[in-house]
Amino acid sequence: MKSILFLMLIPFAMFADKPGDERGVNIKDAHSYSNPAEIVVQHLDLNLKADFSTKKLVGFVDLQVKNLTHADTLRLDTYNLKIESVKVNDAPVKFILKPADEILGSELAIPVTASTKVVTINYETSPDARALQWLSPEQTAGKIYPFLFTQSEAILARSWIPLQDTPGIKFTWTATIHCPKELMALMSCPQNPKQIGNGNYSFKMPLPVPSYLMALSIGDLAYKAYDNRCGIYAEPVMLGKAFHEFSDLPAMIASAEQLYGKYPWIQYDVLVLPPSFPFGGMENPCVTFATPTIITGDRSLVSLIAHELAHSWSGNLVTNATWNDFWLNEGFTVYFESRIMEKIYGKDYADMLNLLSQNELKHTVAVMGDNNPDTKLFLDLKGRDPDDGMGDIAYEKGRFFLMALEEAAGRDVWDAFLKKYFEEHRFQTMTTEKFVKYLDANLLQENPLIKQKVNVDEWVYGTGLPKSLPVIKSRYFDTVEKAAAAFIKTSAIPDTTRWTTHHYLHFLRTVAPEMTYEKAVALDNHFHFTQIQNSEIAFDWFMIAIACHYKPAYQALENFLNTVGRRKFIAPLYRKAAADTTLKPWIEKVYQTARPGYHAVAVKTIDEIFEGK
Ligand code: BES
Ligand code: ZN
Repeated sequence: MKSILFLMLIPFAMFADKPGDERGVNIKDAHSYSNPAEIVVQHLDLNLKADFSTKKLVGFVDLQVKNLTHADTLRLDTYNLKIESVKVNDAPVKFILKPADEILGSELAIPVTASTKVVTINYETSPDARALQWLSPEQTAGKIYPFLFTQSEAILARSWIPLQDTPGIKFTWTATIHCPKELMALMSCPQNPKQIGNGNYSFKMPLPVPSYLMALSIGDLAYKAYDNRCGIYAEPVMLGKAFHEFSDLPAMIASAEQLYGKYPWIQYDVLVLPPSFPFGGMENPCVTFATPTIITGDRSLVSLIAHELAHSWSGNLVTNATWNDFWLNEGFTVYFESRIMEKIYGKDYADMLNLLSQNELKHTVAVMGDNNPDTKLFLDLKGRDPDDGMGDIAYEKGRFFLMALEEAAGRDVWDAFLKKYFEEHRFQTMTTEKFVKYLDANLLQENPLIKQKVNVDEWVYGTGLPKSLPVIKSRYFDTVEKAAAAFIKTSAIPDTTRWTTHHYLHFLRTVAPEMTYEKAVALDNHFHFTQIQNSEIAFDWFMIAIACHYKPAYQALENFLNTVGRRKFIAPLYRKAAADTTLKPWIEKVYQTARPGYHAVAVKTIDEIFEGK
């Protein structure tokens, strides 16, 4: 009798918890020590005090777990955390903090039983925790208060929270943050901008998210709303400019919703950070973190906001299961970004952006080599820092794959497919293999012609650029190319009436290989590029200045490197200058001064440049 009952219960036990692929827990993630297939974290409650004098977060986290397989150990990811004590269901236990791996950090092994519900960890972060950057007042726009921000993607969440640091699982969370009274704390969840924290802030994320989307920022912040669900957070002295720059935000959200369904995260705000933020933007749920270097005054670099907004669907709602599947996050997002840009600013504008990116992609593949395994969309990053796989390929090869499919399927059919894909996988994770199967079952089988035009396996599992790479044409750029040819031939200064940032970028990139010192003088005399406040143009100009030894730009370049910490700009500048024997001693000195102002992810990359890696 007993055994019959037991047998009858098995199917219920199996389906009730759904411990299988649906939650992604059965997928092996080479970048996490955690064992979510056995015991999974479903919710966490965080309680942290931000101590600016010691540069530490100190407090505890309660992890609510579900023990799926009667596991005896909960394995968590940590990186340089000081673990004070661990309790299981409120009773102290002996834990093991394993030796640290340079990339993955240390496994924290905690003994559990079948009845374990809550695991409490008292801990503090180290002053050089990789996710955190503690800024001095001088590094902020206001220059009066210090600032703290986190950057958890890809595997840095473990340096400020002990957790299952894998994108394969999702959890809900709450947090209490204690900070100096004069500062405001902000986290990646819906929040009331009017909350007067008086040093104590509470947060609640009711929707499940992966660990890399945990984010916190503390500083002298103010808020200005566009409407009841979107607005800007920034330091008070930056707020007006930022608000003006991103005023198309409500239109962007409306366009995104028209394309692929209702905005799922309740609220969408942008937080403008100080310039040391190592990325352009980070899609933290409900509040995108953004670099101030996209604020130009003419709204010409706002595609970055469209990008982070698009992640609300591709990435945050349907999430790459492992970092090998990163293209599912970024390739889809660049594609979606481009559709939003086209909807708002028109096809000619989007064509310029698409062509600039495709040229960069071709250049990247040429440098990496056609047969380089890292030019595949589906990567094998085992044993490596996931950061190594996060270049142009996932973004741009991924995007052009989807564009090729769109062209072959026709826009209406393709859009219906994508909308359904997002709907059916809401709050789930996705592997490359699962997507390829879904694509086949839901699009390709009914439309065999698409398969003839686009070889899916070649795109996903092959190296280099497939023959079905979409051809991008831009009539605006045709004019720029004529002007560039004339300049190369006779140093004729182009007529730039009605040029946008993108025209200038295309011009500079086209003339770059032919530039000489004299030509640099001619351009700078006319356009004053050395003084330009537009970071994208300034970057291209500084690359030319290094190549031509155009000394008049060196001081401006040094200032740029001392204020901006955005890795996409500073890493190539350092790399180019360090490769030039005459400039190397100078750039090393510049780096010594600038290095303490950079976030750890930028420092890691640039240290490697100087170590010759
Ligand atoms: N999610 C990325 C940023 C990221 C990627 C952080 C990998 C850590 C590891 C974000 O959405 C992004 O792609 N940002 C880009 C801007 C975008 C317009 C291409 C950036 O920061 O440059
Ligand atoms: Zn992105």
